[in-house]
Amino acid sequence: MPVGTQGTVKGISPQELTDIGSQVVLANTYHLMLRPGEELVRAHGGLPGFTAYPGPFLTDSGGFQVMSLGHMRQIDERGVTFRSHLDGSVVELTPERSVAVQEALGADVIMAFDECPPYPATHDYVKRSLERTLRWLGRSLEAQTRADQALFAIVQGGVYSDLREVSLRETVAFGTPGFAIGGMAVGEPKEEMYPAVAQTAEGLPENKPRYLMGVGHPEDLVASIALGVDMFDCVYPTRTGRFGYALTDDGRINLNNAASRSQLLPLDSDCDCYACRHYTRAYLAHLIRAEEMLAPRMLSLHNLRYLHRLVERAREAIVQGDYQAWALAWGERYFKGKL
Ligand code: GUN
Ligand code: ZN
Repeated sequence: MPVGTQGTVKGISPQELTDIGSQVVLANTYHLMLRPGEELVRAHGGLPGFTAYPGPFLTDSGGFQVMSLGHMRQIDERGVTFRSHLDGSVVELTPERSVAVQEALGADVIMAFDECPPYPATHDYVKRSLERTLRWLGRSLEAQTRADQALFAIVQGGVYSDLREVSLRETVAFGTPGFAIGGMAVGEPKEEMYPAVAQTAEGLPENKPRYLMGVGHPEDLVASIALGVDMFDCVYPTRTGRFGYALTDDGRINLNNAASRSQLLPLDSDCDCYACRHYTRAYLAHLIRAEEMLAPRMLSLHNLRYLHRLVERAREAIVQGDYQAWALAWGERYFKGKL
């Protein structure tokens, strides 16, 4: 899922998203409730009317963003109280308020209000946090009034496998239409993340979507798909594109380098995106040096298409029954000389 925090995937038009095969766009409760306010979005008929992106949306519930962006945050049983990063005003976000905002925004998939503990956090803290997240899941579901939005629950438990097990069992018991693996990619080493993702994915129902929140890099997608994950969101493709990097099967190329300025070849000769069909690396590197806004747009577009194609290929390999061989070959080439 491309990330459209403010109700726009930075620099990319809805038509372009449709063209590259995006299937869902993620938007954020935290940002949109503070600005422009959810009622303005509701007045447009929800996110599709507001943004002109006609496809499905998923909104995150806000707790994670409060913890990473808000000031003077205070968590208690009711919810989270914080100061807005925009104007310093005091705002309270509770499971009830998060669901009400997400109903106004009108996404197709909405997320339960949870707490994502920082890393590192003590066993005792993570235990009490996941228990509260379970109570907040109950309140999120109670608060739901619309029948046309799928509310996904979020499994927490940090990197503690006994706590993941508790969160998993109790969360699955709610029987929501989809489940997210939360609390990952918050600074823990990959050697701690993958076992936690594996354990969680393993315990989730086979017939419902499994969404790994905030992940990730191409290698994280390839590895997590092997562990049974179905959905991802990450700012990485658009953010790294704005910084002048392009994703390819041969790794990430840096268009800020002098070498790119004379390369009369596309970003990625296997890619069918607009940038790869029309422009050379030399032209795009020129745009970067000239600080032209087409550069971050085209690199973001390409990187999103790269990840969409990556999961298309993963899907084909799964259908063919040779995912492991495909994934190993992909990794071998992507990391050539770097492993
Ligand atoms: N985004 C990345 N991780 C998380 C998480 O644990 N919870 C929520 N709500 N959003 C996230
Ligand atoms: Zn491309």
